[in-house]
Amino acid sequence: MAATWSDKAVGRPFGADQKRDSALKEQVEALLCQMTLEEKIGQMNQVAGSRDTTGAPANTEIEADVREGRVGSVFNAFGVDFTRELQKQAVEHSRLGIPLLFGYDIIHGFRTIFPIPLGQAASWHLEGIERAARIMAIEGAASGVHWTFAPMVDVARDPRWGRVMEGAGEDTYLTSLIARAQVRGIQGRDPGAIDTLAACVKHYAAYGAVEAGREYNTVDMSEWRLRSIYLPPFLAALEEGCASVMTAFNTLNALPATCHPLLLDQILRREWRFEGMVVTDYTAIMELEQHGVAANASEASRKAVNAGVDMDMQSSYFIKTLNDLVQNGQVEEARIDEAVRRILWLKAALGLFEDPYRYANDDREAECLLSDAHRRAAREQARESMVLLKNEGNVLPLNDRHKKIALIGPLGNTRRLIGSWHGNGDHNDTVTLSEGLANRLVEDAVILYAEGASNRIGDTDTSGIEAALELVRQADAVVLALGEDEADADEAASRADIGLPGAQLELARRVLEAAGDMPIATVLFNGRPLALTELDEIAPAILEAWWPGTEAGNAVADVLFGDVNPSGKLPMSFPASVGQIPVYYNAFNTGRPKGVDPKYASKYLDIPNAPLYPFGFGLSYTTFEYGALETTCSEIGLDDTLEVSLAVTNTGERDGIEVVQLYLQDVHASVVRPLRELKGFQRLELAPGTCERVTFRITPDMRGFLNAELEHMQEPGLFRVQIGGCSQSGQEIEFRVV
Ligand code: GLC
Repeated sequence: MAATWSDKAVGRPFGADQKRDSALKEQVEALLCQMTLEEKIGQMNQVAGSRDTTGAPANTEIEADVREGRVGSVFNAFGVDFTRELQKQAVEHSRLGIPLLFGYDIIHGFRTIFPIPLGQAASWHLEGIERAARIMAIEGAASGVHWTFAPMVDVARDPRWGRVMEGAGEDTYLTSLIARAQVRGIQGRDPGAIDTLAACVKHYAAYGAVEAGREYNTVDMSEWRLRSIYLPPFLAALEEGCASVMTAFNTLNALPATCHPLLLDQILRREWRFEGMVVTDYTAIMELEQHGVAANASEASRKAVNAGVDMDMQSSYFIKTLNDLVQNGQVEEARIDEAVRRILWLKAALGLFEDPYRYANDDREAECLLSDAHRRAAREQARESMVLLKNEGNVLPLNDRHKKIALIGPLGNTRRLIGSWHGNGDHNDTVTLSEGLANRLVEDAVILYAEGASNRIGDTDTSGIEAALELVRQADAVVLALGEDEADADEAASRADIGLPGAQLELARRVLEAAGDMPIATVLFNGRPLALTELDEIAPAILEAWWPGTEAGNAVADVLFGDVNPSGKLPMSFPASVGQIPVYYNAFNTGRPKGVDPKYASKYLDIPNAPLYPFGFGLSYTTFEYGALETTCSEIGLDDTLEVSLAVTNTGERDGIEVVQLYLQDVHASVVRPLRELKGFQRLELAPGTCERVTFRITPDMRGFLNAELEHMQEPGLFRVQIGGCSQSGQEIEFRVV
């Protein structure tokens, strides 16, 4: 029995209006009839653009190929002059003048860089995430980009994998809502607008589940887990009108995702009825040979195109082999036509046939890139992304009485705080923590900086620690700036040991010892959850800042000095030890849960089961109190919606934002169900002493799940509701569905 999905199957990308859509279709058909087979295949070929130092196309071969109609899209393509020049070769010098589609990885900023997506997710602020995506699209479009390879929606439960920095963490529901917000921000409401881009949801599918967290490694899971945990964010992005899909590098259940009929035909086309374009990841068709499912380029192309791939990123296998494959009957020309229709439709929807040069614009580029307004938005989101992990004795916030601040650590004076996928971002634009503190400090205050130790993996040199201690002894407050280098949580950057790299922990130990009773705050700049048990044992205050983007230093200073009250909540569990991985909040209970039998229980002999910091956790400079959870009734029918509500009070002395989280447990069902699942949240802004009543509606759809036959259904039975400021705590009630 094929699985069933929500009835919101996706159709045309962009949620295109039917009238405009039929006009586009006619335009595409009229063009398709004129195209030779070679020209059609040319549209399915995407190559990397590259520029010389002047910004002109460095790869002159690409110009010749473009003129011959052998290129449909160029990626790593941006810059008014570069894109205009290449577009001119296509439009004015190829036989049919079909415009090129320019793509680029604009993941969390184009020139103004926002926090890494994992940091953005920690804000739980969907409007802020949408605004960041809107701004990056405005900047990218002004520079001639048409299409971005975002959002990345890979649910991930293994922080050893470096690309967790690029997604929204471990939860399917939060990732799905963020995917929708990013698609809305990237594509806006009108695909033809000159400040919107086409989005590309990636990596389809389940790339975040690579075995052992090792990059590009095997993925194998039940179809139940695939459809319940990893696929819903893709459907969410497509329901939001996302224009395209990118296939993943990995295998899924013994088949590479780039030639996977279940993913590319059964689910994407038949169940979801998606009509947009599918592009592969970089050389993924070529890699079918490495995977061992293709003996040569021809077989690789045949398998990819017949499975449903429309565009080949950088393998050049389609352009080399598809003509012969059609001639010898191994690929139907109808399949080529179907792929080319989707590609041409996207170009038409973007308005490129009307005006191929409509996006790239010097004035708009000069006006909007890195504008003050964009920097302000980046700073605001960076503040909201930060998570206060610990604040023993209310060490934080610091205050203006501190006149000598010792800033110690390898991340204290670096501009490498914008993440690895930073588009056209320039490190020189980044505000360092040292600069941010200097901007914030009162006149007569000074900053004493020493690196102390490096954050290079494996660098155990501690010779710089003594000089750092010297500064600590002169100071009246200490800020430790520790973490990872941008390059160490990225594509092709998995880590087996996810502790603080280098000799940073030793540095922290020695500085904390030397600091005595002095206020000392540890700021972490990292791209993945780290194993921080030792640091947590000695550091009184820990602020997770991720890689905050262009305005990093200013945003961290805003939070350290309490100009902004931290409100972030973890979108991914921080393990107590790498040995726990995968550790995630929505786990099953098992038949022998810990705590029942002292010996025969699901536990370790040497480490706890619980993560150090759980999903949904984050402290504040104020405190919040949750009143008793109330409900309209304790028994409802299958089709009924239950309202639950409680009062949340700011019981401290500062304004604060609390992310109130709703978790649901289906206590008994026909398949095992997680101990809790996030089903809703609300960000409350509360002034000191004020109280707000929060109401959630628990709908039949929220109670639904996939049963053992992969049918989406709801069952009667006992349910448990938990509402609080973290996945592990809150007010609870039970209700029954009859
Ligand atoms: C990379 C990434 C993908 C990116 C593409 C183009 O290898 O896997 O996310 O969009 O290549 O740069």
